[in-house]
Amino acid sequence: MTEIVQRTLIVLKPDAVQRGIAGELLGRFERRGLRFAALRLVTVERALAELHYAVHKGKFFYEDLVKTISASPVVAAVLEGPNAIAVVRAMVGATRPHEAAPGTIRGDYALVGLRNLVHASDAPETAAAEIALWFPEGPIAYTRDVERWMTDEGAPS
Ligand code: CDP
Ligand code: MG
Repeated sequence: MTEIVQRTLIVLKPDAVQRGIAGELLGRFERRGLRFAALRLVTVERALAELHYAVHKGKFFYEDLVKTISASPVVAAVLEGPNAIAVVRAMVGATRPHEAAPGTIRGDYALVGLRNLVHASDAPETAAAEIALWFPEGPIAYTRDVERWMTDEGAPS
C-alpha cells in the first residue's frame, strides 16, 4: 500500500527550549523516521503568535497562549514523511498532559496545558498554512538513502 507523504509543522515551545530538551524531542521525531524539511530557532513576535493562534482568538486561554509562546525562543520545524500529520499528533499526545498517554511527549514530559512543550499541525489545511507562516521561504526538498528502508518507496509490492 502506498502511503501519502505529508509535511507538518512543529513548534517546540519556550518551555522545551528553556528545559533543555528541544534536541531530545527533535530526536524522537527523527528516530521515528521523519525527515526535517525545515528547522529554525525563532524569536516569536506578538504578530506571529497572533497569526499562529488566530483560530483560538476569543477563547479564555488565548491571551496566555500568545504571551507564553512569545516569552522565549522556540524551535520551529517542518517534518516530512508518510502520514506525517497524524503520526506527529499521536507522538505529541493529548492537549492536556494529564490526559496524555505515557509514551507520548506530553505524557512523558509535561504536566499542564500551557506548558505542554510542543505544537503540531492538526490537518492538511492547517499544516500548509502554518508552514507558509513560519517558513515563507519554503521547506527544503531532498531525499535520504535510508528512506527506502522506512517507506513504501523501497518495499516490495
Ligand atoms: O496543541 P493542541 O492542538 O493539542 O491544542 P489546541 O486545542 O490547539 O490548543 C492550543 C494550545 O492552547 C494547547 O497546546 C495548550 O497549550 C493551550 N490550551 C490551554 O492552555 N488550555 C486549554 N483548555 C486548551 C488549550
Ligand atoms: Mg492545535
